[in-house]
Amino acid sequence: MGKMNRNKQIKVTEEFVRTKIEDYDSGHDWFHIERVRKLARYINEQEKIADPFVLEIAALLHDIMDSKFMKRTPEQENKMVGEFMDKNELTEIKDQVISVIRNVSYSNKKPDGNLSDPVLLIIQDADKLDAMGAIGIARAFNYGGFRNNPIYIPGNQRAIKNQSTIGHFYDKLLRLKDMMNTSTGRLIAEERHQFLALFLEKFYREWDFED
Ligand code: ADP
Ligand code: NI
Repeated sequence: MGKMNRNKQIKVTEEFVRTKIEDYDSGHDWFHIERVRKLARYINEQEKIADPFVLEIAALLHDIMDSKFMKRTPEQENKMVGEFMDKNELTEIKDQVISVIRNVSYSNKKPDGNLSDPVLLIIQDADKLDAMGAIGIARAFNYGGFRNNPIYIPGNQRAIKNQSTIGHFYDKLLRLKDMMNTSTGRLIAEERHQFLALFLEKFYREWDFED
């Protein structure tokens, strides 16, 4: 082991992530990272399946290579994260962490590597949980506004052309609870899902207002 202790390595990773994501949309801001990190920590405290230090570093870095925001090619991004990790004596966990962050995205169409790594399973759950419940609703309408999408288009919400934020609930948010990896994740997802359902019920009642 080198000169850096783990607290210091966590601190420099926080700094690295903060500067890297400054120009992302506000749905992928530092506070999203903090929430995912807390959820991941909590899930692992219950399940005790992952190395807490690797989990912490991977949670911090989990959005850094999101294809929607990358300014460079995946190879260049890989290299950049790898160099950061080498420089900060994280070489031992580099391959594992890079594999996790490459596989974590919901929209990743070509997963590879160790797909049953507990670190990956937990971060996937934490990331999905942050797209559910009250926070998930706030993030969805924020993203929809950023894209200039309508909040709702009456009709079939599953229709391919329904680019509304309520449509996104059916495309993604309502499906998340059945995609959890851990039982702790499933438990939290259950509650957050119920809140999504309640929100939709209220939304439609207000939309169709009849006195
Ligand atoms: P991931 O990084 O897990 O692939 P996204 O980047 O697709 O997730 O989504 C980030 C946030 O933006 C989530 O809260 C998600 O629900 C929301 N979002 C993504 N696409 C849409 C959309 N078309 N309408 C509303 N919200 C969206
Ligand atoms: Ni994320």
